[in-house]
Amino acid sequence: MDKISVLISQEEIELRICEMADRINRTYEGKTVHLIGILKGSVFFICELAKHLTVPVTMDFMSVSSYENATTSSGRVRIVMDLSDTIQGKNVILVEDIIDSGNTLSYLLPILESRGPASIELVTLLNKPDRREQEVAVNDTGFVIPDAFVVGYGLDYAQKYRNLPYIGVVEIEKGENDE
Ligand code: PRP
Repeated sequence: MDKISVLISQEEIELRICEMADRINRTYEGKTVHLIGILKGSVFFICELAKHLTVPVTMDFMSVSSYENATTSSGRVRIVMDLSDTIQGKNVILVEDIIDSGNTLSYLLPILESRGPASIELVTLLNKPDRREQEVAVNDTGFVIPDAFVVGYGLDYAQKYRNLPYIGVVEIEKGENDE
């Protein structure tokens, strides 16, 4: 069993997501927003965010992988599962659990922009600016966090701990899952 300490509590997360939803409700008043969740990490965040939106909402998902089972980004990004609907003319909000190196989003954003959305913005629950390798324009960040290995609220360690209702820091034993 890995040792995990709480970094951001469930209460803090839910309060912050309410604030992020309020901002979206004000920005997109009178419009429909099309939320795109990047699987798998964003599922808890996108659901909680969507529950607090009062503007009309449609949702879609895509899966992009760069980490596979490593703990740091390989820099190679691939689309594992594309969107099921067109985004042409839609007010897209890309929803991420974390921006780390920036490799995933710097690959994905131009692809989505080329598909002709009316607008596109990026919101992320967590942001680790210290780890950035590629600049990414983030419209709203839930929490800026230090360079620690975080799990919970959608984030995994070797596919585990996504279901924790808080953000925790895991103490990884040396040699395990290292690449
Ligand atoms: C995580 C996270 C982001 C990406 C961010 O996904 O959900 O998509 O890494 O890292 P980056 O800024 O360094 O590119 P991951 O590939 O681990 O897949 P998962 O969401 O299924 O866990």
